[in-house]
Amino acid sequence: MSHLEDDSLNPIERAVHRILHGYLEFFYDAWTNLNINAISGDYVEFGSWGGNTMNQAYKALCLTGLTDRHLWAYDSFDTLPEAQDDRDYHPGWNPGGAMGGGGVDKFYEACDRHGIPREAYTATEGYFEDTIGTAEPDDPPADIAMCLIDCNLYSSAATCMEWLQPRLKHGMILAFDDYWCWSPDKISGEQSLLMEFQRDHPEWTFDRYHTIARAGLSFVVFDAAQMPG
Ligand SMILES: C[S@@+](CC[C@H](N)C(=O)[O-])C[C@H]1O[C@@H](n2cnc3c(N)ncnc32)[C@H](O)[C@@H]1O
Repeated sequence: MSHLEDDSLNPIERAVHRILHGYLEFFYDAWTNLNINAISGDYVEFGSWGGNTMNQAYKALCLTGLTDRHLWAYDSFDTLPEAQDDRDYHPGWNPGGAMGGGGVDKFYEACDRHGIPREAYTATEGYFEDTIGTAEPDDPPADIAMCLIDCNLYSSAATCMEWLQPRLKHGMILAFDDYWCWSPDKISGEQSLLMEFQRDHPEWTFDRYHTIARAGLSFVVFDAAQMPG
């Protein structure tokens, strides 16, 4: 019986189960495939605040026995930034308003509750512009197997892609949590970002991989030079 049919759960519990199960399924398959395909590296997450996706990523690492991979969490742990671009607008987001908050200590508490040991991850607090935006090329993480972008706004995700661009590698997985968040008159911020990135960086190909829970989509990154001509 699937959790969608489980009468012992109320509708909200059912929806939460379905979402968490969707993340766990994605992470489990992704880590298994990365391992089988000998893709080394860590997990990087942009937008970590509640610790939910971090928890599922870590759970899947435990299930697959791959806990030697480090987890990197980046977030302001504060409000969503103000909109900087027309593509930041979406009916479901509130730029400049509440989402996240409580500082990095709340995130540590959430990870403790989930049983994620402190040495398994590194949390960096601050707006991306001030953290990864000022990173040196050699700053860790040096080797990335999987990156999840879950920061809602187009302009926030664009900062992440700018940082990630020189760190992309053949075979890694790139995931967007809000890929299927479109609006009546716009395609999704993350979707348009990836389309623009592909246009500007033809050296990379993004091959569609797993959907993630309700609105996410992931890709395997390939060196375009390896593609059959
Ligand atoms: C949907 S929440 C992340 C939820 C998290 N993945 C979880 O499962 O609990 C999005 C987060 O992105 C963060 N964020 C968005 N833009 C940001 C930016 N430019 N710099 C830092 N954090 C940002 C917000 O503060 C918010 O905490």
